Amino acid sequence: MSKTNLSVSPDVRSPKPGQVIVLGVISTSNGIQLAKHLSDSRSLEGLDLKALGATSKAEQLVRVPGINGSVFALLGVGSDELDEDNLRELGGVVGRSLRGFSEIVLDLPTDDDRDAVALVEGALLGLYEYRSVFTKALPRLDVVESIISLSPHPVEPELLERSRVLAEAVTRVRDLVNTPPNLLFPASFAEVAKSQAKSAGISVTVLTEKELEAQGFGGIQAVGQGSSRPPRLVKVEYSPKRATKHLALVGKGITFDTGGISLKPAASMVGMKYDMTGAATVFQAISAIAALKLPVKVTSFLCLAENMPSGTAIRPNDVITTHNGKTVEVLNTDAEGRLVLADGLSAASELEPDLIIDVATLTGAARVALGDRYSALMGTADAVSAVEAAAFDSGELVWHMPLPSELRARLDSDVADIANAKIGSTAGGMLLAGVFLKEFVGRAGHDAKPQAWAHLDIAGTANNESSAYGFTPKGATGVMLRTLVTVAEELAR
Ligand code: BES
Ligand code: MN
Ligand code: ZN
Repeated sequence: MSKTNLSVSPDVRSPKPGQVIVLGVISTSNGIQLAKHLSDSRSLEGLDLKALGATSKAEQLVRVPGINGSVFALLGVGSDELDEDNLRELGGVVGRSLRGFSEIVLDLPTDDDRDAVALVEGALLGLYEYRSVFTKALPRLDVVESIISLSPHPVEPELLERSRVLAEAVTRVRDLVNTPPNLLFPASFAEVAKSQAKSAGISVTVLTEKELEAQGFGGIQAVGQGSSRPPRLVKVEYSPKRATKHLALVGKGITFDTGGISLKPAASMVGMKYDMTGAATVFQAISAIAALKLPVKVTSFLCLAENMPSGTAIRPNDVITTHNGKTVEVLNTDAEGRLVLADGLSAASELEPDLIIDVATLTGAARVALGDRYSALMGTADAVSAVEAAAFDSGELVWHMPLPSELRARLDSDVADIANAKIGSTAGGMLLAGVFLKEFVGRAGHDAKPQAWAHLDIAGTANNESSAYGFTPKGATGVMLRTLVTVAEELAR
């Protein structure tokens, strides 16, 4: 993928075999016609676009012969008012549909440099395919040698490089998340982090189960104790000299969530390999931030465990002690994400960073409340605004949800500081999880400067169960990665 050459050019390419030129189709009062474009489309003149099957409906794409062995792809663009986000999604359709060509030329209307880059970024994101464990060798996406956006607006090379770094990071998230859970477990995930870090300008420290125990990471330890494949906490640091701000990222990394002794029913268990998406996202985000050499310090915590039922697993009513010393009564072993995050958030809080963001496939309730395209966002006011702005800028969808303080009483335990679930009630399940996490943000006795914190529940958005759309494939989406990097860019300003 890194081989794919990206460019924005006002020059019309000379048509050749292996090249596809994408033209937009819009609808006007005189029926459908081609959107404004730069390349020579004289060979299409007089053709009845409608008869060819072209429509202006977004995502519709038909191929017609071009000149000298090239191909025209006529892409419905929905409307003639296209913003950056529309163009990124349309680029995605192109990447998904035309990955067999060696050169993709996007000849769609752009208003500025960001529009031109969004097309290329979307195309790169759309090229993604997870093919690792099929026995049949399939054509790799590397066949696309270059992606060119035809636009009169000149683009700084850094902007294109940024898109490449982001798309590569999203690709790595998707690959990690799509990996079957027999092939990815806490220790192997930590190894992936270590080996990727070598070339990335970040440092990786791995705490093994013994170190977790010795250092009081009782949440991660407890969730992992039922599995033959022990838990890990991976701390990743990027510390450039010019940094003035510090961002801490915490990711839920359950490599498989059976529910533990509070076992999930068979149908709800399928898909629980996605439960490590938060950890994959915060790892690839810090890698991308380092690759872009942003002048901001970042520390990521990957809270890795496999939640299994066994003779050594935690039981309902067990009480554990988390890293900040608070005790938790485990009433439901399937509410394990908040237990590992309790440790991760406590460890992040000790560093007193300017901002903490955690990312987690935390609750089925998030999917019930917001569906599968909006990620839920909770937290302190400033942190929420920062993430909201970055998400808007990235074209990612988030929705601000409350953390009602009156819910805290539902987590009162008879024997410990807090319980991890309210048995027999599903009311506000996503909010209740957020209220639980809040207990582990900040340091006791450091109330003078409250810790800025945002929580992203991506249980609905991490995995696209329906078919592909825009630049989003079926399966792992890589959602929120671009938002996190954008937050870091804003902090670096
Ligand atoms: N990993 C799940 C949440 C999840 C559900 C993610 C569906 C993606 C799709 C989480 O660990 C979980 O099991 N949460 C429970 C919490 C409950 C026991 C309080 C849930 O949502 O049912
Ligand atoms: Mn669970
Ligand atoms: Zn889980």
